[in-house]
Amino acid sequence: TACIILGAPVQEGAGRLGCDMGPSAFRTAGLVPELRNLGYAVEDRGNIAPAPLRDLHHPNRAIRALPETVAWTESIAKAAYEASGDGIPIFIGGDHSLSAGSMTGLARRAAEEGREFFVLWLDSHPDFHTLETTTSGNLHGIPMAYATGLEGFEGYFPPVAAPINPRNVCMMGIRSVDPAERAALSTSGVTVHDMRAIDENGIAPLLGAFLERVAAVDGILHVSLDVDFLDPGIAPGVGTTVPGGATFREAHLIMEMLHDSGLVRSIDLVELNPFLDERGRTALLMVDLVSSLMGRRVLDRPTQSYRHT
Ligand code: ARG
Ligand code: MN
Ligand code: MN
Ligand code: MN
Repeated sequence: TACIILGAPVQEGAGRLGCDMGPSAFRTAGLVPELRNLGYAVEDRGNIAPAPLRDLHHPNRAIRALPETVAWTESIAKAAYEASGDGIPIFIGGDHSLSAGSMTGLARRAAEEGREFFVLWLDSHPDFHTLETTTSGNLHGIPMAYATGLEGFEGYFPPVAAPINPRNVCMMGIRSVDPAERAALSTSGVTVHDMRAIDENGIAPLLGAFLERVAAVDGILHVSLDVDFLDPGIAPGVGTTVPGGATFREAHLIMEMLHDSGLVRSIDLVELNPFLDERGRTALLMVDLVSSLMGRRVLDRPTQSYRHT
């Protein structure tokens, strides 16, 4: 299978500028040659452009850049749907609002193939606000609510062809949740492994159980990796750092287990802000993690199988 690189230089969803430079930083950090070294054919489709802007107003006055975010969602969803028929799409962002487009386009494809769609959400935030509940108004805080079909996006965002079943979503690394998100998550069916759960159990049993669930129904797995999932000490190049994040070793273990599973069909790499980075170290770390996810390994070892059907 080929890897298809899709740049999504959207920055209007974040609270500060700079994520528009993310795609360039991922390319500069060597994402394409890294994947080629692993033996993949790589097609870099360049950067997606937003659809035309429409005049949109929402009663929640806090909301920022609604027309821009809607325009990006339209074009990214279309690109995601198309690319998912051709290989493994890798979205290089761009703030996390891009996942409103990537996840809905990919889920639509999965539904047409008659496959169940799953998401592993690696982030310090659940990004589970609706247009009504966001108080910051930064729309990188809404993609998971939108893609799982929560109400209140109708008339603003594109209709969701195949809402993701919240029971098929597993979040890891969560440590910054707003009150409205916390209330919505508790009744949603989403599996949330916060940092406490990781500290108490370790990565392997938590992720292993989820991968077994995906494998049991021959599901399709999408991975959405927000830079702020990682500890700020190793990944400073992001606008929303939250202390106490995943370590280098925890993050690589996740990537290695994902590769072994053979279940991953698409990836989002989001929230990289090169303006805040230090000599490219966050971009390089993200590329390093993708490399682990796509099969780089330290030693030959038997592959763990999650297929129990
Ligand atoms: N929950 C906060 C908000 O809505 C933070 C969102 C951060 N999201 C992100 N993709 N970094 O503003
Ligand atoms: Mn107007
Ligand atoms: Mn996020
Ligand atoms: Mn985040």
